[in-house]
Amino acid sequence: MLNPIRWRDGAVEILDQTELPWREVWRHLRGWEEVAEAIRAMRVRGAPLIGIAAAYGLVLSVWHLGAEADPEAPFREALEGLSRARPTAVNLFRALERMRAVFRDHLDRETLRDALLAEARRIHREEVEACRAMGRLGAELLPPGAVVVTICNTGALATGGYGTALGVIRAAWEMGRLSRVYALETRPRLQGARLTAWELLREGIPFCLIVDSAAGSLLSRERVDAVLVGADRIARNGDTANKIGTYPLAVLAARHGVPFYVVAPTSTIDPALRSGGEIPIEERDEEEVLVPYGARFAPEGARAWNPAFDVTPAELITAIVTERGILRPPYERSIGRLFS
Ligand code: MRU
Repeated sequence: MLNPIRWRDGAVEILDQTELPWREVWRHLRGWEEVAEAIRAMRVRGAPLIGIAAAYGLVLSVWHLGAEADPEAPFREALEGLSRARPTAVNLFRALERMRAVFRDHLDRETLRDALLAEARRIHREEVEACRAMGRLGAELLPPGAVVVTICNTGALATGGYGTALGVIRAAWEMGRLSRVYALETRPRLQGARLTAWELLREGIPFCLIVDSAAGSLLSRERVDAVLVGADRIARNGDTANKIGTYPLAVLAARHGVPFYVVAPTSTIDPALRSGGEIPIEERDEEEVLVPYGARFAPEGARAWNPAFDVTPAELITAIVTERGILRPPYERSIGRLFS
């Protein structure tokens, strides 16, 4: 199975997603600053993978220190630097917190490095296991021969292996329940056109790309059995932040009576936030809209607004598939039970 991140010989190796699908470039990162840059530039991306990468970044912050060096300051600096890399995916902060707890409780300098590496590997392994569990549970929601719509890239590339919404698609395909996927190209970074298409082609899963604005026509004209999306942060009431364009897709799904499923590990739920209004939404450089991948679409002097995520209100979400079961409305109660 595709794994876009690995630890090898004191370095984090990542498959650079800004180079896909044109080239498969592996980068060897030897400092936490390089990991933070990779997250900011979206060389690694997708909520679970951002968390995994940040955890390995913290390992790097102490890995190359001499035996006499005090790890406290480098670790703190990395913790702060990595926490500023991207604001929306809560997996980043969850992973940093777990690593911080290991650092805090580990008094033995000799074995600190190994303890941190073990925790980063555990976070990585748990995310992949969660994906497999969600895949099995989510696929059961689909009718035989299902036609589904998805947005962004929620596959192995986004999660460290298998995928969330794309994991359900993968599992449904393996179970013989899927006939076709419609993938939104996902402006402006084109995660659907570049990355989801790349993954689906590798798997031999039949798919068709559509521009984001074709979703309404598709849902009004074709039989679609479900919309499957990932999440970057889910508030306690079920409001869900995900890639920009997810909210209009949910509105369209409701309009056409199509079930709208969010597929996300519990590491993406933030029970500290009451509702979606409290989720920090990243706004990225306008150049991503004006000059995507170096091709200028807008005239010099044009300005753009570039929010990377939107919030889908809980009332538009049919169910949330987690590794610990399928959550149904009212989410206040089903999410509350998970964290009580
Ligand atoms: O900006 P990105 O590419 O990191 O956004 C990714 C998404 O919005 C995904 O849908 C989300 O992280 C869930 S992926 C498992």
